[in-house]
Amino acid sequence: MRGLLTLKDLSTEKIMELLRYAMKLKRGFRIQYPDKKIATLFFENSTRTQYSFQCALMNLGIKVVDFDTQLSSIAKGESLYDTVRTFEALGVDGVVIRHSKDEYFKELETIKIPIFNGGDGKSNHPTQSLLDLMTIYEEFGKFDGLKCCIIGDISHSRVAHTNIEVMKRLGMDVYISGPEEYNDHCAKWIPIDEAVETMDVVMLLRVQFERHQEKMKISVEEYHEKYGMTVDRMNKMKENAIIMHPAPINRGVEIADEVAECPKSRIYKQMTNGVYVRMAVISDALDGNL
Ligand code: CP
Repeated sequence: MRGLLTLKDLSTEKIMELLRYAMKLKRGFRIQYPDKKIATLFFENSTRTQYSFQCALMNLGIKVVDFDTQLSSIAKGESLYDTVRTFEALGVDGVVIRHSKDEYFKELETIKIPIFNGGDGKSNHPTQSLLDLMTIYEEFGKFDGLKCCIIGDISHSRVAHTNIEVMKRLGMDVYISGPEEYNDHCAKWIPIDEAVETMDVVMLLRVQFERHQEKMKISVEEYHEKYGMTVDRMNKMKENAIIMHPAPINRGVEIADEVAECPKSRIYKQMTNGVYVRMAVISDALDGNL
């Protein structure tokens, strides 16, 4: 299949090549694809991924075909495969898809146009991980030996699962923390107060209530006190350590209002980098390299 479905498909050399290309685009390198059109199909809510893909497409001179699930024939029972096959038949040059089903792309194996995964269930969010990696690389100029702890609702997070796999491959020491009920043991668990004092990167996650089968065992106030990035915890971080979050953020739950935009926070830089990473991925695919 063409495009970008999971980072597991990419070597670390290819990941570094994409990051370097994204940084070159950020420095002002210009490339245009005026004859191309790409459809964005979001079957789950999204602000950052959906609109940063659209900004990336516009920056590349590509026409955006904005698919509205509510007004589409999905409501008449059309399958994901038939929807994507239709866009292929209409002549679009690629599709961006976010879907709640893990590895939805397995049913699209015969589609020939590039597919860009904007997130599948709890499994993969490849462009989010690339923008996280770009932000870390811009900060530290390396990955090898850096310590990162991802804190929060790990078990429901495609961001955590994608990042842990790729960060380990790039030589980072990756840990997890947060409530035991969301610990799926995908990395070594450490207490949050140890994490904030020892990590180079502290990555917070939103509690993903929409994916929960059962009510969270504690209140959001208790969550903030036990597992949130409070001002007190921020003050205990190493001098050059940074705070990241894929967003959307819930101020007062996993992150204090004052911390969200503090000097250590790279949250809005992550969003900016998302546009360049998505430009790099789309451009590389349209050039036949992905
Ligand atoms: N980080 C992220 O995927 O945000 P959205 O859900 O708003 O796209």
